[in-house]
Amino acid sequence: MPLTVLGIESSCDDTAAAVVTDDGRVLSSVVSGQTALHADFGGVVPEIAARAHAERLDLCVEAALEQAGVTLRDLDAIAVTAGPGLIGGVMAGVMLAKGLAAGTGLPLVGVNHLAGHALTPRLTDGIGFPYLMLLVSGGHCQFLRVSGPEAFTRLGGTIDDAPGEAFDKVAKLLGLPQPGGPAVEAEAAKGDPDAVSLPRPLLDRPGCDMSFSGLKTAVLRVRDQAVAAEGGLRESLRADICASFQAAVAEVLAEKTRRALAQADVPVVAVAGGVAANRTIRAALERVASDAGARFLAPPLALCTDNAAMIAWAGIERFRLGHRDGMDLAARPRWPL
Ligand code: KG4
Ligand code: ZN
Repeated sequence: MPLTVLGIESSCDDTAAAVVTDDGRVLSSVVSGQTALHADFGGVVPEIAARAHAERLDLCVEAALEQAGVTLRDLDAIAVTAGPGLIGGVMAGVMLAKGLAAGTGLPLVGVNHLAGHALTPRLTDGIGFPYLMLLVSGGHCQFLRVSGPEAFTRLGGTIDDAPGEAFDKVAKLLGLPQPGGPAVEAEAAKGDPDAVSLPRPLLDRPGCDMSFSGLKTAVLRVRDQAVAAEGGLRESLRADICASFQAAVAEVLAEKTRRALAQADVPVVAVAGGVAANRTIRAALERVASDAGARFLAPPLALCTDNAAMIAWAGIERFRLGHRDGMDLAARPRWPL
């Protein structure tokens, strides 16, 4: 009989529950997003997020069990995100998991959200260690050399904004809707990536660190110049800015991935996070991998963005190592890998 584990995730603005087996089957994965709740505020409001998690977690767990066709009695453990993240949300998830564990006698396993992302390619593609993981989302941007379920080496990351955050801010500057990534990508398809000259931050410096906030400032300058000179932003210039911005992000990510891959000396590079949905960026990373003779892996988008299947899976990996948490499991706002 395979191990069957319930995963619970509530560290940012998605409330999620999933049931996963240790032979890599996702029996269910329920995600209840909160984008609409935060839309008027230009970002995730921690108080609103925590309340929404508290209201929805039970329902998500119930739905995940039902969709998987199991009951609490069929489970072998309960895995929960214990950090890093917005503390109110993490606490809501940890409290529910403790309650379920206490009520059923099932073992409790606390999981690091970033480990959840980083171990996803093992769930989706069954790959072995070691491999390189590029985590690129709205909140994260880092290279991890993954050499075991609990062995992560950070090779570099952003020193300011995450790329998704930069896409979102650029969208806002150009009057495009949120989330900015898909909007900027659609606009970029109509533009010329060489039309607007934008910087390639930190590309001239050795190592795998990145910076994206300067790009956003450069876009702001181009926009303001156009508005001053022409009284507004031409449709075609907006498309050119989007295409040029996307090309700059792709080039930086590709070159830094090339270096990280050389440093990590691994046969596989995998990506996770919402920005991995971007076709231009994906293609650039694929090229880097193929030039280096490495395999490129991008899990299906639903498992790339925040979800609880990755938490259940990371819980399985920790459980198999003998890891168990007690009722003193703490919710942690910060928890570096
Ligand atoms: O992983 P994710 O769903 O959530 C967290 O950040 O935790 O990532 C969301 C981010 C947003 O910033 C969004 O704009 C970006 O991923 N994103 C994209 C694309 N789709 C989503 N960025 C660029 N191109 C896309 N197609
Ligand atoms: Zn995440």
